Amino acid sequence: MELRVKRAPHIDTEITVPGDKSISHRAAIIAALSNGVCRLEGFLNANDCMRTVEALRALGIRIDEPEPNTIVVHGKKRVLSPPAGDIDCGNSATTMRLMAGLLAGQKFESRLIGDSSLSKRPMERVITPLRQMGATIVAEGSEQTAPLRVHGGSLQGIKYEIPVASAQVKGAILLAGLFAKGKTIVTEVGSTRNHTELMLRYFFVRTTRTENGAIGIFGDQIPESRDFRIPGDLSSATYWLTAAAVQPGGHLLVRNLGLNPTRTPVLGVLVRMGAQVREAVENVDQLEPRGIVEITGAMLKGTVIQGKEVAQLIDELPVLAVAGALASGTTIIRHAQELRVKETDRIAAIAHNLRVMGAQVIELNDGLEIHGPAPLRGARVPSFGDHRIAMAFAIAGLFADGETTVQDAECVEISYPGFFKTIEEFVNPKRAQVSTPVIGSLSLAPMEE
Ligand code: S3P
Repeated sequence: MELRVKRAPHIDTEITVPGDKSISHRAAIIAALSNGVCRLEGFLNANDCMRTVEALRALGIRIDEPEPNTIVVHGKKRVLSPPAGDIDCGNSATTMRLMAGLLAGQKFESRLIGDSSLSKRPMERVITPLRQMGATIVAEGSEQTAPLRVHGGSLQGIKYEIPVASAQVKGAILLAGLFAKGKTIVTEVGSTRNHTELMLRYFFVRTTRTENGAIGIFGDQIPESRDFRIPGDLSSATYWLTAAAVQPGGHLLVRNLGLNPTRTPVLGVLVRMGAQVREAVENVDQLEPRGIVEITGAMLKGTVIQGKEVAQLIDELPVLAVAGALASGTTIIRHAQELRVKETDRIAAIAHNLRVMGAQVIELNDGLEIHGPAPLRGARVPSFGDHRIAMAFAIAGLFADGETTVQDAECVEISYPGFFKTIEEFVNPKRAQVSTPVIGSLSLAPMEE
């Protein structure tokens, strides 16, 4: 399907976004290993997370869906059954990599398959450590790529330094570590989202963390069943936060948002570019911080995004690049070569689409140099089958002259059901506008620049 977008009028509204994708995957998996029934509210009912739900069902786990965005997982004390057929991970690398870790601990053979995009994505990064732990993994693809045949069991804990900054690889090793003899310890080159560690702790699995950031897990533990509420996904909220940020005087409030510090560096970038951002953590009782973000837009200025922060805002880079095109001066994104191995080559996709819309962009090996401010013009842009490219360029369309058409936009369902409805509300606002600052009344200091 095609998504048509036109220029947004003044933005002054309040929204919520669907549940966090990364947390939803992990909550379902760890609940499935637990010793009882776990109700997971706010579960992201999007294609990617449903792939994980289906994978767990294929392994003998009962998962009920009593109402939208709630699943009830019937944990079976780490007992999984051999799947009757291939496990189809669709477009979801998180499903494939986390499942590879989980299946590495099982004595039966399983085969993980994916769509054409997932079948090109690097899997060697999980295969190497899982083999070191004792699993037999055969990559049927020509470049250590999917389909993956995993035959596990009898794992041994290892010490492993993950050479790429990847929360999926860390998660896979920690899940395998839960089934390994002794202790498994991982260190990261750059710190990535810590949802696996937090979710394990929430389910009373003993993990350790040393000062240098090494994370340890002991095998042979059974997670304690518990209920959990998944907060809204900050990566999804970033589309709307960016839209408000680039519009001088634009104002947006997002409630019930995940505010885990390994995910919030994107807010720091928007502040650096000149937006006013306030965040209020309201609750940490389930270990994952959640709260409110309020943003007021301005004429943004370019910034440099590089180094360690890149790993913690990797999914937000497509829409931040759009912000860069609308900001004055140069925005440089470096050290982001991981973007080349996402659902599509996101560096090439962003450069292509920004140019089609009239921006001046230089493609770097590991990022982009964007010269703003560009008077963006509406155009037909491909999504490249990539949900984040589709959504980022729908946002670009809100600030372009004329109409923008995002082709093959159905891929947004991978992570964000409801995106179309919210963009419609941005283009044709109906509801009451929120004109007084809300977080200000909680007397919070603005974030430091
Ligand atoms: C994710 C980690 C990131 C991110 C992806 C979700 C996760 O990928 O891009 O959307 O849930 O662990 P990598 O681990 O490959 O960096």
